[in-house]
Amino acid sequence: MPKTISDKIEQWLTLHRQRTVEHQRPQVTLCYAQSWDGSITIRAGEALALSGDGSMRLTHLLRSLHDGILVGIGTVLADNPQLTVRECEGDSPQAIVLDSGVRIPKHARLCQRQGQKCWVVSNKEQPEIARDDIELIRVASSDDNRLDLEQVLAKLWQKGIRSIMVEGGAQVITAFVKAGLADAIVLTVAPRLVGGYKAIDSLGLSQKAELPRISPIYTQTLGDDLIMWGELRYGSEND
Ligand SMILES: NC(=O)c1ccc[n+]([C@@H]2O[C@H](COP(=O)([O-])OP(=O)(O)OC[C@H]3O[C@@H](n4cnc5c(N)ncnc54)[C@H](OP(=O)(O)O)[C@@H]3O)[C@@H](O)[C@H]2O)c1
Repeated sequence: MPKTISDKIEQWLTLHRQRTVEHQRPQVTLCYAQSWDGSITIRAGEALALSGDGSMRLTHLLRSLHDGILVGIGTVLADNPQLTVRECEGDSPQAIVLDSGVRIPKHARLCQRQGQKCWVVSNKEQPEIARDDIELIRVASSDDNRLDLEQVLAKLWQKGIRSIMVEGGAQVITAFVKAGLADAIVLTVAPRLVGGYKAIDSLGLSQKAELPRISPIYTQTLGDDLIMWGELRYGSEND
């Protein structure tokens, strides 16, 4: 029997993890949906459901294959996502939000999960707000005054997280790629032209040889969507 795309991606992810050198940090998979022109939404801060039903089920399967699921506070404020596994068997990954100012609202769906507090990563030493609906993880600031992603991953590793899926948004996806910390990508390309907010912003690179590359690559259609997946390679790994 031919394998389904879900079986193929699950097998690929398992092999990719076995091949990856142990870094003492969780393995990071970027997983998001974009239009044919690379937009993830019309305008930053607005929700736009781009994936078809099959791709949505695949996203839920991918969630179930990771220990943690990470988004930026921009995505929480725009989409109020649940980030749970509902369309297939499997456990929901630990929800993690990059949120320096601890702006996540108490009524956010991520703060309503039974038996699993949302982990909120901040660089503030003493946030004024005392919250019992979230677990705060403190890390240092990066040079650009954002959260230092290497430290974020180190803290998650200490807490037993071995793999995370990064679902967005654009600022967070860009930051992981820029830091060379995204190991693999599963991209849903929906047949729309949006002319909107792009998944990847400037990486500050000017030479073709420096640009992150995806190799080997795999593609398959799922309903009207195109699913593309592969490992990310940086710098000298490009050769
Ligand atoms: N199509 C899709 O698959 C998909 C998936 C997800 C989201 N989206 C869309 O994307 C939009 C949200 O994306 P966004 O780019 O505005 O926001 P985002 O990437 O979700 O969150 C950005 C925020 O994360 C915080 N952050 C903390 N450390 C960071 C770091 N090291 N690097 C980057 N950000 C860091 C910053 O807020 P603080 O400074 O307050 O910490 C920053 O403003 C929404 O419209 C949503 O609908 C689409």
